[in-house]
Amino acid sequence: MNSIQDLFQRLTLGVYVIGVVNGETRNAFTAACVMQASYDPLLLALSINRLHSCYGTLRRGQAFSVNVLKTGQLDLAAHYGRPARDDKLASTSWMTGITGAPLLRAALAWFECEAVAEYPAGDHVLVVGKVIGGEVLDSVAEPMSYRETGDLDGASTLYPARFEPK
Ligand SMILES: Cc1cc2nc3c(=O)[nH]c(=O)nc-3n(C[C@H](O)[C@H](O)[C@H](O)COP(=O)(O)O)c2cc1C
Repeated sequence: MNSIQDLFQRLTLGVYVIGVVNGETRNAFTAACVMQASYDPLLLALSINRLHSCYGTLRRGQAFSVNVLKTGQLDLAAHYGRPARDDKLASTSWMTGITGAPLLRAALAWFECEAVAEYPAGDHVLVVGKVIGGEVLDSVAEPMSYRETGDLDGASTLYPARFEPK
């Protein structure tokens, strides 16, 4: 891990499985870059790489779920952190939200959102969603922290060795 990656891993982030839907097409991906963006209305924001297949589905379907992972659920973080070769959701128990987005039964909690805005952000896109539902499924478990995932997302190859001078 280089020093810039080490620095960025001091930002406290959770780990989530973002479910996306467009008609009968559903997929999900692991994301750490998720935050509450507003109280009134309740908005969540996530940062997604525009090259992910999930981005196209999200863009067309305009809805997503945010499934909060529990500490220790590294298998789920890894599974949904890989590109879809086949149906990633086939091996997981999930139910359908009111938008049609997949809600993982094993999650600590879930939120369901309608996408309301998007903003370009470097090699990612910030997608803002209005929260239209949610539930805590396990009030005892602790949420997973991004730091717990080490280099599971391969981010060590994404951080530069040094900051760019102004
Ligand atoms: C711990 C972890 C955190 C991740 N965080 C994000 C994230 O915040 N945004 C993002 O676009 N991809 C993130 N990824 C990468 C995606 O999960 C991964 O590229 C996935 O293959 C995308 O799914 P898709 O190819 O089915 O669209 C993360 C992966 C892991 C393992």
